[in-house]
Amino acid sequence: MRIVAIANQKGGVGKTTTTINLGAALAEQGKRVLLIDLDPQGNTSTGLGIAPGSRSATSYDLLLGESVPEPHQVEIGGGSLWIIPANTDLASADIELHAHEKRSFLLHDALRGGLLERQNFDYVLIDCPPSLNLLTVNAMVAAHAILVPLQAEFFALEGLSQLMMTIREVRMKANPALRIEGVVLTMADMRNRLSQQVEADVRETLGDLVFRCVIPRNVRISEAPSYARTVLDYDPASKGSQAYRALALELLERHEGAGRKEARA
Ligand SMILES: Nc1ncnc2c1ncn2[C@@H]1O[C@H](COP(=O)(O)OP(=O)(O)OP(=O)(O)O)[C@@H](O)[C@H]1O
Ligand SMILES: [Mg+2]
Repeated sequence: MRIVAIANQKGGVGKTTTTINLGAALAEQGKRVLLIDLDPQGNTSTGLGIAPGSRSATSYDLLLGESVPEPHQVEIGGGSLWIIPANTDLASADIELHAHEKRSFLLHDALRGGLLERQNFDYVLIDCPPSLNLLTVNAMVAAHAILVPLQAEFFALEGLSQLMMTIREVRMKANPALRIEGVVLTMADMRNRLSQQVEADVRETLGDLVFRCVIPRNVRISEAPSYARTVLDYDPASKGSQAYRALALELLERHEGAGRKEARA
């Protein structure tokens, strides 16, 4: 089982879109996937059709409630995803967390309390808010790895050093094994010279950290959540679906490859 936090404090870079559609692509590969919506905006929950009124067991309860909530099961066309949704309660959690003695470890402890083993999940993807607040820190402490969506635009690399600093701090204080799963370029327009230049710069700066697969700007990706569907379900043959499938395969290849290496060592 692997817990991956999808994080970038920059807003609108594709965190939620990647959480939903990478989750769907992993499910298509036969994996049992739990999504945790850790953003008070609740976009992952809305994007999968969980109406605010029916968000009974939420990520707020996961962090600060008395018992661990049961995930909602969502049908995604031939398969299922599980999700712990967010509601607006989570907006106050950041403040409540500050007053808590175990403020950075609450998600870590909740997830290790038997929820994941009971349900046999292979992957847990955590959609983080656009901030380096205590919610994001909880995700980083709970996770095995961080996946960073990076929008292919001029300021792409700006802000990344702050994110890396936070990761280093979490490693020092709480989670020494935390890895960077990789950086994925999103909303790329490959006919556009600026997009190509940004990709070249990002690859030169970050090297192998960057996934080979790039997520293109694709209107089907942005339409799908308004129908409460994943892009893989909404338009399986679209460029967007193909890209998220490729990302899932690359992620699996990285893990299963790493697993083989560990097994040999
Ligand atoms: N590859 C893509 N092609 C077209 N539109 C996209 C793509 N990826 C994301 N979008 C759109 O861009 C917007 C921002 O994406 P998203 O909500 O995933 O970003 P985010 O990082 O989660 O934002 P926030 O920081 O507010 O949580 C959304 O309207 C989404 O539909
Ligand atoms: Mg989001």
